[in-house]
Amino acid sequence: MTEQRSTQHASWLVRADRALGGALNRFTLPSTHAFVIAEGRGSRVYDVDGRAYIDYVLGSGPLLLGHAHPAVVEAVCRQASRGSTFYWLNEPIIQLAEVLIEAVPCAERVKFVSTGTEATMHAIRIARAYTGRARILKFEGGFHGVHDYALQSAVSPTVADYPAPRADAAGIPEPVSETVLVSQWNDLALTEQLICAYADELAAVICEPLQRALPPEPGFLEGLRALTARYGIVLIFDEIVTGFRLAYGGAQERYGVVPDLATFGKALGGGYPIAAIAGRAELMELTDPRRRARGLPEAHLSGTFNGNPIAAAAGLATLQVLRQPGVYDQLYRVTDRLTSGLRALAAERRLPLQVIGEGPLFQVVFAERPPRNYADIVASDRERARRFGLACLEQGLFVVPGEKYYVSLAHTDADVDETLAAFARALDVITAQPAG
Ligand SMILES: Cc1ncc(COP(=O)(O)O)c(C=O)c1O
Repeated sequence: MTEQRSTQHASWLVRADRALGGALNRFTLPSTHAFVIAEGRGSRVYDVDGRAYIDYVLGSGPLLLGHAHPAVVEAVCRQASRGSTFYWLNEPIIQLAEVLIEAVPCAERVKFVSTGTEATMHAIRIARAYTGRARILKFEGGFHGVHDYALQSAVSPTVADYPAPRADAAGIPEPVSETVLVSQWNDLALTEQLICAYADELAAVICEPLQRALPPEPGFLEGLRALTARYGIVLIFDEIVTGFRLAYGGAQERYGVVPDLATFGKALGGGYPIAAIAGRAELMELTDPRRRARGLPEAHLSGTFNGNPIAAAAGLATLQVLRQPGVYDQLYRVTDRLTSGLRALAAERRLPLQVIGEGPLFQVVFAERPPRNYADIVASDRERARRFGLACLEQGLFVVPGEKYYVSLAHTDADVDETLAAFARALDVITAQPAG
C-alpha cells in the first residue's frame, strides 16, 4: 500500500512517528498499512490522500450514528457558542442524567466522568467503600480500561491457576494485583467456587455482560446476579461498549439481568468524551461530597471535565435519535446481513471462521468451533485473524485487525454489499497464504 501514498501522506506518518511514537493507543498498523485520517462522514473515514474506508472502528465504538451526524453537529455547535465547560451543574448534563435514569434499569442515580477508565475505577471504589471489602473478581479477557485494577488478565496469556491474575502492564504494583481475582467467562461452576471461597473479602464482581464479542451463555449472568446478591457483593456491569448499543437500555435490558452498578461511555456521548457510573441510590450516595463534613466515608469522585456540557449536548442529540422507532431493528438487520454474508463466504471457501458477537458488534475468529471464553480466543488462529484484518484494510475497510467490528446507523445496504465484496477478496488473499 505504501506506493499509493502521496509524499505529503508519508510525511505526516514520519512526523507522527517522531512526535507520537507512531500511535495514539494500544493498536498499531504495520508501516505498509498505516494511515492518517483527514475526516469522517457517515459510515466512512477518508485519509489525507482522500482514500475512503468504510469504517468499522467508529472511534472504537462511540459513533453509533456514524461520523458527524447532523443532529449531533448542530447540538455541539449550539452548546459551543454558549460555553465549553463549567465544572458546575448545567442544563444539558442534568437532562442527560434524567435520560439515562429513564433508559437504564439499574440507574437510580448517575455520576459523570470523561472516560470509561475513570467510570470503572469509580464503580470499583464505590463498591469497596460500600462493602468495606478490598477484593474484586473479574473475568479473564474482560476489558475495563487501563487503570491498575482493570489491567489484570485482560489481554495477557491465559492463567492456569485461577484466581491469580496476570498484570497486563509493567508498573502495576503487586499488592494491587493481589486485590483482583480472575475467573473464566461462562464458567459458572468455577465462578461460584471462587465467590464462595472469597465471599467475605469480595467487594464486587465486575464483567462486561457481552465480554468483548463473547455472549453470556444462558443462565450465566443470572447466576452471577444470584451469587452476588447472596453474599452482599456488588455486581457491576461494564456497559461501556454495550450501553445504548445492544438495546436502548443496554445489555441489562437485552439480557434481562439488572446489576447494582453499571458504567457507560462510548455511545453515550455520540463521539464526545463522556462516561457515567449509574446504579442504586444507596450505593451512588457514597459519592456525595457532603458525607465528608458529616464524618461519613466518601468514595471521592471529582474531575475537571465531569459533566461537560458539550459532550452532554452531543449525548442528548444521539440518544434522541436512538429513541426513534425501528432504530435497533435497523442496526441488528444491517449487522445480520454482514455476519451471515461473511459466514457464507467462509463456508464457500471451507474456512474455519466463526463470527461472534451480538447486535451491532461482531468479531471474526478463526477456529473450528465458536469460542466460549478468552482461553478459546487465545487458542484460535489469531495470526490469521490479523492477516484477514490487514487484507480488509487493503480492500478499503477500516478495521483494527483481530478486534471487534462496530456497526452504525450510517451503514447502508450499499455499504454492506461493498463490504461483503471486500470480505470475499480479503478471504481470497488469506486463503492463498499459508495458515498462521
Ligand atoms: C468494556 C470497556 N470498558 C472500559 C473501557 C475503557 O474506556 P475508555 O477507553 O473510554 O477509558 C473500554 C474501552 O474500550 C471498554 O471496551
